Amino acid sequence: MSDLRYIRVEWDGEIAVVSVDRQDKLNALNADVIRELGDVFTSLGSDSAVRAIVLTGAGEKAFVAGADIGELARMDPVTAVRVSRDGQRVFQDIERCPKPVVAAIGGYALGGGLELALACHLRIASTRARFGLPEVGLGIIPGYGGTVRLARVVGLGRAIEMTLTGDPVDAPRALAYGLVSSVVEGDVLMAEAKVLARRVTKNGPLAVRMALESIYRGLDIASVDAQESESALFGLLASTGDMKEGMQAFLEKRKPDFSGS
Ligand code: COA
Repeated sequence: MSDLRYIRVEWDGEIAVVSVDRQDKLNALNADVIRELGDVFTSLGSDSAVRAIVLTGAGEKAFVAGADIGELARMDPVTAVRVSRDGQRVFQDIERCPKPVVAAIGGYALGGGLELALACHLRIASTRARFGLPEVGLGIIPGYGGTVRLARVVGLGRAIEMTLTGDPVDAPRALAYGLVSSVVEGDVLMAEAKVLARRVTKNGPLAVRMALESIYRGLDIASVDAQESESALFGLLASTGDMKEGMQAFLEKRKPDFSGS
């Protein structure tokens, strides 16, 4: 994680707070930002000291205002496919991160910024947040998984409307769409994102990890196969100290102390 130019990582106990910090361009994702994001999530995903990650955008105005249009404007077809695949790979790494990832969205989450938020497991917004996929207005389509993930989160009809119009939706509408879990004032956004993260980290870390794995695996395969996979993960958890501790704690009427093993 050395030599990061656009990504900052701070710690609050077991929560890593990752900020995209390219404020002069509203945190737009150029190739370096994408690469650094990939490096950071690979590193945090395998760091046993990390129990949850909050991803945010630096500054008041933007979570991330999209892919870097200056870079996109120079693409030829071959480069465009590579740009899309590079972004998709990093966003898949974020989605597959074994630690819960909460997006804290305090401003524009447009284009690649919304796609980045959609790759996170949970999303919380401030009242100032704006969400949209304006790509068609630039003559392109979302290329970092947005045409796939948005419909899964908000439903097909809303996703088609957002994608074809390119019009942004505000925070209350995003809440009504189920795009975010809650909307809070900007000055408490980070605190509330950590509260949301801790609602997850109070639980068994292996169970959280297997739940994510089961949910995301289930999206890509037939229901019957997904449930078979669910059973296997359920069985795997029965071998863990966390299961013993969780159930013992319930029976003894105390809070569990999970070790993640
Ligand atoms: N790519 C590259 N640069 C971007 C950018 C992006 N996606 N979004 C914003 N910027 C840059 C602007 O070019 C500007 O840079 P400059 O000061 O060097 O000219 C700077 O960030 C500030 O943006 P600005 O447009 O002046 O802020 P604003 O408050 O007037 O408008 C937005 C904010 C988000 C509405 C506007 O920046 C915008 O529409 N951005 C593009 C959104 C988009 O289409 N994203 C999808 C890309 S695929």
